[in-house]
Amino acid sequence: MVASRGTGEGEWFTIRWNSDRVELLDQRELPNEERYLSLTEVEEVAEAIEELAIRGAPAIGCAAAMGVALGAWRSDARDLDAMVGELESRVIPRLERTRPTAINLFWALDRMRGTLAKLAQAPGASTESLRAGLLAEAETILEDDKAICREIGQAGIDLIPDGAQVLTHCNAGALATGGYGTALGVVRAAVEAGRSIRVLADETRPLLQGARLTAWELSRDDIPVEVCTDNMAGYLMQQGEVDLVVVGADRIAANGDVANKIGTYGLAVLANAHSIPFYVAAPLSTIDLKIADGSAIPIEIRGRDEIARIGGRTLLPEQVGVRQPAFDVTPAALVTALVTEKGLVQPPSQQAIAALFRPDS
Ligand code: MRU
Repeated sequence: MVASRGTGEGEWFTIRWNSDRVELLDQRELPNEERYLSLTEVEEVAEAIEELAIRGAPAIGCAAAMGVALGAWRSDARDLDAMVGELESRVIPRLERTRPTAINLFWALDRMRGTLAKLAQAPGASTESLRAGLLAEAETILEDDKAICREIGQAGIDLIPDGAQVLTHCNAGALATGGYGTALGVVRAAVEAGRSIRVLADETRPLLQGARLTAWELSRDDIPVEVCTDNMAGYLMQQGEVDLVVVGADRIAANGDVANKIGTYGLAVLANAHSIPFYVAAPLSTIDLKIADGSAIPIEIRGRDEIARIGGRTLLPEQVGVRQPAFDVTPAALVTALVTEKGLVQPPSQQAIAALFRPDS
């Protein structure tokens, strides 16, 4: 068995609480520099999420939960009611405004809001018990996420045969989660089971999460990876260089439509045209049962410079605008299976997804 180091627990980590602060690996600097940010203010956590120092749906959720704990830690509220008021009216709403598409952000903040209400009503509640309880909940969210990623890996292991050539898009790895990853969790589990795999990482324009992050974390684990530009995928499929595609998700609607990094939909169409299986690996916290289908998923629009500038150089004439949706929606019909901690949903359907949430499933 090959040990996987990309767990967020070994040589590097995605995010953690350290004494009175949140520490996270600044993903904007990768692969050139492994620099950790040490955050002591809620505003710093919010900005780290907005500016993609930490990104990827589950990791955003973990960061937001830590942000709430930090809000309690830093608060100088004189009593319990004042602290609850500050967290509910200022801290949580600020974190909710950071990024709109990844449902894990709202899932984690709802969970922190629920914990806050419970802690505040507990007998003998104090500002101290609130601080300790919120930190414990944020750390549980992080540790659960790592464990869930390993379960997703086990659920998807047999989708990846020995010798498989696997295409992935963006980064759905240890960097995008508490550790281990969703799509890359499936890859890691297959490698740990002794399978020899070649990963093709889509570069993922405009912010290059595939080239900078997926390639970085897989190469740190000695998993064979090569980077291709996004527009090479069709040709490589045609040449027989892709046996399957596995990606992550930012939000999955009740019918199985999948929002993920821009370019995912195009890949799914290409995979379908070449009869290549297209898998989406995600935890249940990425499924939004309140949204019937993908048309209602909010799509983040990011700033002009992310397209117009690269490495300090301007690529477009000054007066020319850009169109910059950060995510797209892949219809469920193009998804071969969802890979979740509760197993495969194959093919994704409203009934099969609802069944995942029944207490006996
Ligand atoms: O804009 P990003 O980098 O946050 O987008 C990330 C993705 O699209 C990932 O594929 C998704 O969040 C899944 S992470 C396990």
